[in-house]
Amino acid sequence: MSSVAVTMCVCRRVPFTHLLSRARAAGWGLDELIAATGCGAGCGLCRPYLRRMLATGETEFHELLYESADGC
Ligand code: FES
Repeated sequence: MSSVAVTMCVCRRVPFTHLLSRARAAGWGLDELIAATGCGAGCGLCRPYLRRMLATGETEFHELLYESADGC
């Protein structure tokens, strides 16, 4: 396991645990989460993590995730 953990949107300084709670309470998908919090709208590097967080409930990642050209 890598010693590096990705646990937040660095641009907005918001932990994924906080974002997951808000997303689940409001029923947000990725687009709604980005619109409501601004997370994913800065550098965009957290977007694949946000996508996986919403799909799996994970809030700590030990691998580098990238978005493909089609945004998936
Ligand atoms: S790390 Fe989330 S927008 Fe930059």
